[in-house]
Amino acid sequence: MGAGLARPGLGYVRAVRRLGVLASGTGTILQAILDAGLPVGVVVVDRPCAATERALAAGAPVELVERTSFGPDFDRVAYSHRVVDALKRHEVDLVAMAGFGTILADPVHEAFGGLIVNTHPALLPAFKGWHAVEDALAAGVKVTGWTAHLATVEVDDGPILAQEAVPVFADDTVDSLHERIKEVERRRYPEVLQALLEGRTP
Ligand code: GRF
Repeated sequence: MGAGLARPGLGYVRAVRRLGVLASGTGTILQAILDAGLPVGVVVVDRPCAATERALAAGAPVELVERTSFGPDFDRVAYSHRVVDALKRHEVDLVAMAGFGTILADPVHEAFGGLIVNTHPALLPAFKGWHAVEDALAAGVKVTGWTAHLATVEVDDGPILAQEAVPVFADDTVDSLHERIKEVERRRYPEVLQALLEGRTP
């Protein structure tokens, strides 16, 4: 039903309208999405965090799908079902990960496959994982950057939508380099999401 667009390399993706954002941390990327005026239908957080206050201040609904275990007993599949339920309650069409601290399992990809976007603070496929900025610094690269990509069940994998290079300076710390990358994320990620919401190729 509804209009859709065929996009080379990305398969058939129907036009989408409401955005669900997944966040866990300080939420500055979420803030950029809110400031850009994107139609955020819900913000899902996995723990109490600053992203919650940012969402509520902007009038966006928040669902705390609390992760109670970080140990080997964590039931990732059951947790992923709870995230799907939260997103569906708010009838979102596109899911944007924005620093979400829990790796999600098959149920999320079965429900929203091809319509989940991730922002990553490195030039994928280099430096996958949660410590991408630290790993880039440790490797001594002179250039790293930012990637937006369609998410798959494999972490930090999937078709690349947009990238931008960021220089590494001799006196950089993890924090200073991450902040320089986040400046790019805050500028570019909302543009990518806006394009997808409008059915355009980012
Ligand atoms: C971003 O760099 C994002 O790419 C990474 O986590 C960070 C989230 O930043 N996955 P913030 O909490 O929104 O400031």
